[in-house]
Amino acid sequence: MEADNITIPYLPTLMDNPLRLAAVFTWYALHYILPDNSFPVLGRFFRKTRAGILHMINPRVSTKANICRGAYLGNLRNISISGKSGIGPRFKMHNVILEMGSDIMMAEDVLVMGGGHRFDRLDIPMGKQGDIAKTQLTIESDVWIGTRAIILAKNTTIGHGAIIGAGAVVTRSVPPYAIVGGNPARIIRYRDGSQNQTQRVEELRQGCAK
Ligand SMILES: CC(C)(COP(=O)(O)OP(=O)(O)OC[C@H]1O[C@@H](n2cnc3c(N)ncnc32)[C@H](O)[C@@H]1OP(=O)(O)O)[C@@H](O)C(=O)NCCC(=O)NCCS
Repeated sequence: MEADNITIPYLPTLMDNPLRLAAVFTWYALHYILPDNSFPVLGRFFRKTRAGILHMINPRVSTKANICRGAYLGNLRNISISGKSGIGPRFKMHNVILEMGSDIMMAEDVLVMGGGHRFDRLDIPMGKQGDIAKTQLTIESDVWIGTRAIILAKNTTIGHGAIIGAGAVVTRSVPPYAIVGGNPARIIRYRDGSQNQTQRVEELRQGCAK
């Protein structure tokens, strides 16, 4: 998925030389200093500033992205955001390559965790066994992620139109239009009211496309 509007010039020199470090540092400094997007009157300006700077460092982030204050996005390389999708306040991602569609709403304190420590051997400490490589999380479009959800990314997909309930611990992929909750997250129902893996998903998809 590509960012839908690339209007600010990309600064390629930032990507692969020491200046990149400075760019990342600057982003985090400004990102934390600027008030949140809900700030009266000026909130829109702060939102655009945050998204614009991030877009210059990583053009796969849309300039319309709604990135709230206090989000931790690692080295800023491993994320792509389409359209007006949101990153909630104090969001954190670790060891994950995150691809986000458009129209994603995210509440505060959401965590996305991938990778991790190896633990197969019993004869040496886990901390000396090395790390698991980054894993992928794809969040398709029109997804709502409730507050304090934890998503364990194991090459996982959150399907189009799904809802992740508040406090859910998501350990596997979520089908389109499913509402999930709990730890581990289970399907509560589908958005059309059905209890079963939907024969209507295609109809719903087509309905949304109209
Ligand atoms: C997931 C959610 C959308 C479901 O809403 P709903 O369809 O109105 O669900 P209901 O309240 O009718 O609950 C249906 C069942 O799911 C359970 N459930 C609801 N939300 C749950 C959650 N987050 N985790 C675990 N179970 C949940 C209820 O206990 C209920 O179970 P029961 O039938 O055994 O009693 C909602 O509960 C939620 O978590 N919203 C996120 C709120 C949030 O984070 N807002 C941030 C600001 S945007």
